[in-house]
Amino acid sequence: MRLEGKVALVTGGGSGIGRAIATLFVEEGASVIVNDVVLEGAQKTVEGMGPAGARCMAIKADVSSSVEVKSMFAQIAARYSTLDILVNNAGIGETDAKHGEEIRRKADARIMELMSGGEIGTHWDVTSEMSDVDWSRMIGVHLNGTFFCTREALKLMGAKNRGAIINMSSVAGLGGLEYAPNYSAAKGAILGFTRAVAKEVASRNIRVNAICPGWIDTPMTAGQAESPLLKRALMSRVPMGRSGQPREVATTALFLASDDSSYFTGQWLSPNGGLFIGG
Ligand SMILES: NC(=O)c1ccc[n+]([C@@H]2O[C@H](COP(=O)([O-])OP(=O)(O)OC[C@H]3O[C@@H](n4cnc5c(N)ncnc54)[C@H](O)[C@@H]3O)[C@@H](O)[C@H]2O)c1
Repeated sequence: MRLEGKVALVTGGGSGIGRAIATLFVEEGASVIVNDVVLEGAQKTVEGMGPAGARCMAIKADVSSSVEVKSMFAQIAARYSTLDILVNNAGIGETDAKHGEEIRRKADARIMELMSGGEIGTHWDVTSEMSDVDWSRMIGVHLNGTFFCTREALKLMGAKNRGAIINMSSVAGLGGLEYAPNYSAAKGAILGFTRAVAKEVASRNIRVNAICPGWIDTPMTAGQAESPLLKRALMSRVPMGRSGQPREVATTALFLASDDSSYFTGQWLSPNGGLFIGG
């Protein structure tokens, strides 16, 4: 019971990694506010908690909207009057399915070209063809969302001079993902934000850290796994030879949320099976 009596907000908690984090935090004694832009997903997470779900709540809000985030925090303050832990987890892998299909087609073509030993004639051309909307939406959900929620959370945490904030970055933010420059930029920026805010609020006893997961099996990555060729190519780069499970990221979040990590701030941890090593 490492989070006994704590109040935690997990954004994007209606699916994948966010659901696993919310569920583990409740098992460890926390009351969890499960946010998602899809209310049904958040409600399903709370229902899955059994009787412990009674001390939790599902809230619909788009984290990329500062208005919706402010309204969410007003609801949190009204019911709990406090916040001990914030997990900025909400995210999107691609801005539209058509773009995803195109990337998978190109990935398969490039792998075939590579294997045939010839020149690579299929170019990614993602940045040169990216629309303003695709860029802004990705930054809006990940980076703006992290800022909007952190801004409000710090007001509640600052009142008690304690708290833990965990920002979901990615190996894409560390090493760059060739077919997702907007996603990589957003995740890299989240690391910069994490380091700056960690130093800013350290004197208030608020710790800010990030997680950079590798390839984790969730609905977000399910689309990419539809190409067996791409999945095999991706897995060949993971020394442990397998993808990760949401629970394996949740245990990292639990460590960063609990007093077990009391001397950690401004850091990132990367559950990734060896895919990315170093800094
Ligand atoms: N799955 C991976 O391999 C992987 C790797 C590295 C990082 N991540 C990051 O982990 C986080 C969770 O991803 P996941 O794999 O569990 O994906 P997922 O698609 O299973 O879950 C993401 C959740 O976020 C919600 N969401 C999306 N936009 C939102 C918004 N504007 N406001 C509120 N909620 C919103 C979605 O509805 C969904 O329930 C993301 O930030 C993602 O970028 C995932």
